[in-house]
Amino acid sequence: MKGNESVIVGLSGASGIIYGIRLLEVLKDLGIERDLVMTATGEEMVTIETGRTPAEVRALASRVHESDDFTSPLASGGFLNRGMVVIPCSMKTVAGIACGFADNLLLRAADCTLKEGRPLIIVPRETPLNSIHLKNMLTLAEVGVTILPAAPGFYHRPRTIDDLVDHVVGKVLDRMGIAHHLYHRWREEG
Ligand SMILES: Cc1cc2nc3c(=O)[nH]c(=O)nc-3n(C[C@H](O)[C@H](O)[C@H](O)COP(=O)(O)O)c2cc1C
Repeated sequence: MKGNESVIVGLSGASGIIYGIRLLEVLKDLGIERDLVMTATGEEMVTIETGRTPAEVRALASRVHESDDFTSPLASGGFLNRGMVVIPCSMKTVAGIACGFADNLLLRAADCTLKEGRPLIIVPRETPLNSIHLKNMLTLAEVGVTILPAAPGFYHRPRTIDDLVDHVVGKVLDRMGIAHHLYHRWREEG
């Protein structure tokens, strides 16, 4: 297992599950290993919001870890990897990470990512935000978590939903230092 080259991808039960699916597709196309953990609601969102099945999403990962399996390698900080992305990230999962309340494997993996000082990126999706949401995100930002809201820009003239999704996924890859061509940068020819 080349776990140290893997990205942990967490899909939680917020709207915008397509962002997480697209990240898995792009990482796969780039030949980057993917350790996937989906919460129970995350799996439901695949069915609710897309024409795909959870099995099809699972097939995009190098390895799939069940959200109730604390015997998974992801439950240990010793699992070497290049960081974790929680995409989309529900406000419940934001709260769990902020409190260190690791009662599913996604939360435990995020907790381990933080305690080991590895990059953690969350793509929160909720609107409007109350002060609890904001305080929890501030707590995470203060310990070095990248808060990358599911808020695509429009300056690159998106024509399709795919263009909007790719802008957010491209921003995630930018933050991880992974080269891509998912969107045209401002003032970039092409
Ligand atoms: C259709 C649907 C859409 C939802 N959208 C959001 C959302 O955008 N953001 C959010 O924080 N929670 C949303 N929720 C609520 C979460 O699914 C719920 O809080 C759940 O407990 C999250 O659990 P998880 O983070 O372990 O997946 C949604 C639920 C449903 C059924």
